[in-house]
Amino acid sequence: MPAQIISGTEIAKQIREELKQEIAELKEKHNLIPGLATVLVGEDPASQVYVGAKEKASIALGVYSERHDLPADTSEEELLKLIDKLNKDPKIHGILVQLPLPKHINETRVLYAIDPKKDVDGFHPVNVGKLMIGEPDYLPCTPHGIQQLLIRSGTKIDGAEVVVVGRSNIVGKPIANILIQKKDGANATVTVCHTRTKDMAFHTKRADILIVAAGKAKAITADMVKEGAVVIDVGVNRIGKTPEGKAILCGDVDFDAVKEKAKAITPVPGGVGPMTITMLMLNTVRAAKLAAGLA
Ligand code: GUN
Repeated sequence: MPAQIISGTEIAKQIREELKQEIAELKEKHNLIPGLATVLVGEDPASQVYVGAKEKASIALGVYSERHDLPADTSEEELLKLIDKLNKDPKIHGILVQLPLPKHINETRVLYAIDPKKDVDGFHPVNVGKLMIGEPDYLPCTPHGIQQLLIRSGTKIDGAEVVVVGRSNIVGKPIANILIQKKDGANATVTVCHTRTKDMAFHTKRADILIVAAGKAKAITADMVKEGAVVIDVGVNRIGKTPEGKAILCGDVDFDAVKEKAKAITPVPGGVGPMTITMLMLNTVRAAKLAAGLA
């Protein structure tokens, strides 16, 4: 039987409705408007699309949005100066610096400069550490979105064998960390595979829940998936263009073949992507509440 399609678009819509109400209440009862600043350096087309989507989501939910698009030759010093200004601005509760940054800028130094209280990406080492010990202020957006997709699709996580393919700081490491916590919506046994894993299929075939952030189109084929597994595809690969010039996207999973074997699967697009932006909105609301002593 073909798999249930886990629609990130639908689940994100539900969460955004919940957030919209919460944001309206914060404004009415506390005169508090959550504020998000996005910072983009350079003209990478994919990054421009992502930042545009974040701005659009902010406006739709009633979040104050400030966009700082800087030229590709912006110096690290100029960028750090802007971050310092945003750190001090009371209208701004969350700061998002879109990655990757141009090569001449030290990404680590920039991420360290963001006030951890305004780090709605959850990338600052203070927030990474808090997640590690099970006391997070902010969960990083993509892994949190994945956890919500699992919970809201009714997937049993407690005691499940989870296999993560990919060990990035943005997805692989934090999702493993989230799902091993001794908490509801976690308590899984997690294996993390990566480019030096000897026998990838040995691990992926054992997974009740397979989370793929490999960065390679169709890296996971049907023979690598257990019958009845739940498959979360984090990959976004541009594999061509339509005659109208629109990008054709595919994930890191061979969707058409794997959907015949899996119990449930996320599509690309319309799976993890919409969840990432929604979780950013959730973190921005949380940042505003923390700043106002309401959380
Ligand atoms: N680039 C790709 N994913 C992300 C993300 O989640 N946050 C930021 N800031 N940049 C990204």
